[in-house]
Amino acid sequence: MKTTAMRTHMCGDLRESNIGNTVSVCGWVGRRREHGEKLAFVDLRDHSGIVQCVVDNDVDVRSEYVVRITGVVRARPDGTVNSTLSTGAIEIGDCVVEVLNSAEPPPFPVDARADEVDEMIRLKYRYLDIRRERMQKNLRVRAAVNSAIRAEMEKNGFLEVETPLLMPSTPEGAREFLVPSRKDHGSFFALPQSPQLWKQLLMVAGVDRYYQIARCLRDEDLRADRQYEFMQLDAEMSFVNQEDVLENIGRAVVAAAKAVTGVAPPEIERITWREAMERFGVDKPDLRFGLELVELTNLFADTEFKAFAGAECIKGIRVDAATYPDAAAYGRNKLDALTDRAKKIGAKGLVWMKVQADGSVESPVAKFLSDSERASLVSTMGAVAGDLLLLVADSWDTTVEVLGQLRNDIGRPPVHEGPYRYVWVTEFPLFVGVDPVTGRPRPGHHPFCHPHPEDLHLMSTEPLKVRALAYDLVLNGWELGSGSIRIHEPELQRQVFNELGISDEEADKRFGFFLQPFKYGAPPHGGFAFGIDRLTAILAGEENIREVIAFPKTQSGADPMTNAPTPIESAQLAELGLRLLPPPAGS
Ligand code: AMO
Ligand code: AMP
Repeated sequence: MKTTAMRTHMCGDLRESNIGNTVSVCGWVGRRREHGEKLAFVDLRDHSGIVQCVVDNDVDVRSEYVVRITGVVRARPDGTVNSTLSTGAIEIGDCVVEVLNSAEPPPFPVDARADEVDEMIRLKYRYLDIRRERMQKNLRVRAAVNSAIRAEMEKNGFLEVETPLLMPSTPEGAREFLVPSRKDHGSFFALPQSPQLWKQLLMVAGVDRYYQIARCLRDEDLRADRQYEFMQLDAEMSFVNQEDVLENIGRAVVAAAKAVTGVAPPEIERITWREAMERFGVDKPDLRFGLELVELTNLFADTEFKAFAGAECIKGIRVDAATYPDAAAYGRNKLDALTDRAKKIGAKGLVWMKVQADGSVESPVAKFLSDSERASLVSTMGAVAGDLLLLVADSWDTTVEVLGQLRNDIGRPPVHEGPYRYVWVTEFPLFVGVDPVTGRPRPGHHPFCHPHPEDLHLMSTEPLKVRALAYDLVLNGWELGSGSIRIHEPELQRQVFNELGISDEEADKRFGFFLQPFKYGAPPHGGFAFGIDRLTAILAGEENIREVIAFPKTQSGADPMTNAPTPIESAQLAELGLRLLPPPAGS
């Protein structure tokens, strides 16, 4: 199947079973090594791998020349077998070399050495970077993920529907990319942050089960797990409860993981948002390691220690010396740095204690604690000699956040290391925090999530206590995806908008096109979306999603290969009815 008019085999496919065959292979010249006066070894590379070809020394082929080589497969002489190469037992001899194209010397070696090259250079010459084994592998992992997802979704009755890229501005949290309208000066399309609105309309439209491998665009600061454009498996289902959604999305994730790793991950674990925060201090807990937060508020209920007295929440983590010998043995400087870090996150301070051989604790604040407080602390935390205890007292939010971050700082392995630990985090809050400007609660996820039926009575009195039928999927501490059961009742939707400070008129103005259809019979529905880039990166063993995207943007949001974004001609601006402001001072 891989043969063409020009080749009989892929380079990486040749084996000892091919010995004696006359073969033609095509590809790029990798390393070339002189072999005596008459001969040279040329490593020929295509996406499948590398094969060694023995050519006449006077053949003029250099790095990255495109060639076709025809010759006879033979065993490598004793002692020259290369066991690190799939083709390492053979080579191609008696070679006829056709140069199909010459090449300028590449700006970096097209092999593993390029891993050390400045990423700007790799991205500027991405087409060369992608010739490398690592990138070829990653693109193939990505394709396998997409393909497995498609097959699984279709097997489960989901219909692929494509949705528009040009749409009105909508309220989904991130900043939007805008596209000026040429025909209607002053009006703009927004590019979708996700197909959220469309997929809900498809439910109203009776599609029942929708999916799409959808391109999403968000104008946010880029990080290892964020790009301006990224891909989601986006799905929505009608007449479902949360279990139906988790089961179907879970199947797609398991199919993708299995397609790449060969083994299906074990059943995806579950944890509520509240429990995740209490135990791990973050809503995307990395379950691969311990260092769990221990509840200590009651233990210090009657304390005389000023920093702890009356605190809403006191928790600690035990850095056990057996698992974390380095961190448990931190000296004064490191402990001061840890305290500074805690303060930066928002703590008023950090109490550290070192458990001594006799069970006593060494700490600058030990003297402020009673004997019984110290003893119960050590026993509650299960601490033994050599352990380091870190304690924070504050509001619940701050305490769990600070300790959650410290836990990750101290214990978190690289994302792809150790077992894959998938976990559903359920019962996210409907609202989080209060907008300092409007004084209104902010949506926890987006304003279309259904409140938890058990909490509806709290909506107008204690909105921040209302849970949502919203859930995330987390893998090794990375948020893979989010979803929810949606509001299908127009009245409830209005109530949520009102809580958010969006009046009926404003809601009609901004999302009338979305709310209107709900008056015509919206089925109960719910869905989910997960980031294909993130899942692929973890399955490919990469720390940064750029490594699994053919043509990503740099951290600063540019493309060094095409130089995008680029200025445009004034005529183009005029046509769009736009005039540029002068650049801000200092830029
Ligand atoms: P959410 O905004 O949580 O939910 O996005 C879902 C998943 O998309 C991925 N993702 C990203 N990946 C790379 N770069 C980015 N900038 C980026 N932003 C998000 C993440 C994230 O978990 N419409 C809802 C889903 C729903 O409710 O059905 C949504 O988009 O993996
Ligand atoms: P202070 O009384 O502010 O000098 O703090 C005494 C010690 O307690 C210092 O090590 C602080 O870092 C620590 N500390 C102060 N406030 C808190 C707090 N809310 N939680 C944990 N540690 C604290």
